[in-house]
Amino acid sequence: MRMYDIIEKKRDGFELSSDEIDFFISGYCNDSIPDYQASALLMAIFLKGMNERETALLTHAMAQSGDMIDLSEIDGIKVDKHSTGGVGDKTTLVLGPIVAACGIPVAKMSGRGLGHTGGTIDKLEAIPGFNTGITRENFIRNVKEIGIAIAGQTGNLAPADKKIYALRDVTATVNNTALIASSIMSKKLASGAQRIVLDVKTGSGAFMKNLEDSVKLAQAMVRIGENTGRHTVAVVTEMDIPLGKAVGNSLEIIEAIETLKNKGPRDLAQVSFELAARMLELGGKGSFEHCSSLVRHAVESGEALEKMAVLIEKQGGNRAVINDYSLFPRAKYIFEYKSETAGHICSMKTDTIGVASLVLGAGRETKESSIDYAAGIYFHKKTGEKVEKGEVIATLYTNREEKLAEACGLLKQAVELSDARPEEKPLILAYID
Ligand code: URA
Repeated sequence: MRMYDIIEKKRDGFELSSDEIDFFISGYCNDSIPDYQASALLMAIFLKGMNERETALLTHAMAQSGDMIDLSEIDGIKVDKHSTGGVGDKTTLVLGPIVAACGIPVAKMSGRGLGHTGGTIDKLEAIPGFNTGITRENFIRNVKEIGIAIAGQTGNLAPADKKIYALRDVTATVNNTALIASSIMSKKLASGAQRIVLDVKTGSGAFMKNLEDSVKLAQAMVRIGENTGRHTVAVVTEMDIPLGKAVGNSLEIIEAIETLKNKGPRDLAQVSFELAARMLELGGKGSFEHCSSLVRHAVESGEALEKMAVLIEKQGGNRAVINDYSLFPRAKYIFEYKSETAGHICSMKTDTIGVASLVLGAGRETKESSIDYAAGIYFHKKTGEKVEKGEVIATLYTNREEKLAEACGLLKQAVELSDARPEEKPLILAYID
């Protein structure tokens, strides 16, 4: 078999066979296929697409390229949740403790920030002492003992996806349904979950910018899940606006804790509680309505907050952060970004906001950059709200004073004002099962 022929076949719009897909994945992983040929094939897939069968085969081959984690030692139905990525998306930090408090085991492997989007693992590392690199044995033991563990993906979880993702990132081949669906689902299959709730983000802060593409992506992933024996559902949620008010690692952890205290922003609570209820439903806890009431009880009783405290303690963190936010890293420079005119915020370019937060230090500009956990942006006003001239729209936090002007410039591009109040949009846009 020759890689040249596989590229040519896909370039001309034909369906690839199982052997051809396996040849590509194994050859690219063992370095016998060079980056330039892999790039050419990815671009051909990007332009010509892949049908359902090919996408399932690609997912399977990528999942099998590394470790397949076995969670069978943990009793109960293991339900996982995955977000396609957004700005201010801290739902895992809210729903993980809720779901665990309701008796469904949460064995969550999460990722780091990608492009303009944040990652759960970077956020958790903002908690002093929190260890996201626990061993497989400790991960399983913690889930058995306290019902929850959240760790970074091990180096050998779907390594083919890791290599291919890095290449897609630099060859303009990220935003393709088959490639995103196989990338996400390969990691889900390898990480051992039996049932999966997908949070497919849509809008300017998401990889999929419009609802139609997001629904197609959701459908593709649900089908992969079902075809591989993992019951999968997807909720398509709004990402045309940051989720919650906080963007940046410590700020987001604090906001998640506030939400577990039932004092968080309405949008974050709504999306997190919806996803938590879907996870409980998949875990066999009853109807969606009943599961929603279990979620509310877990929050109102303080059980979910206590679960968060126990999770932090068990993974080496200081549980006192729950009530003492001064224990989080603090930024040296705090700047108020004020509105130059009066009006209503009519849109927020959410990917640009993600970049502004990254510039302040909350994300990585290169793979080697280190994260400033104190950096980020807190929004006092968001889309739909009225602002007066000179009123503070956002507070910026950073240790890099020299970056404030650049971040403010990005916010100026991102936040658009109009005279009329824009129509309010729903946060939950579709449900696919
Ligand atoms: N997240 C992933 O893991 N993969 C993609 O391709 C896009 C988002």
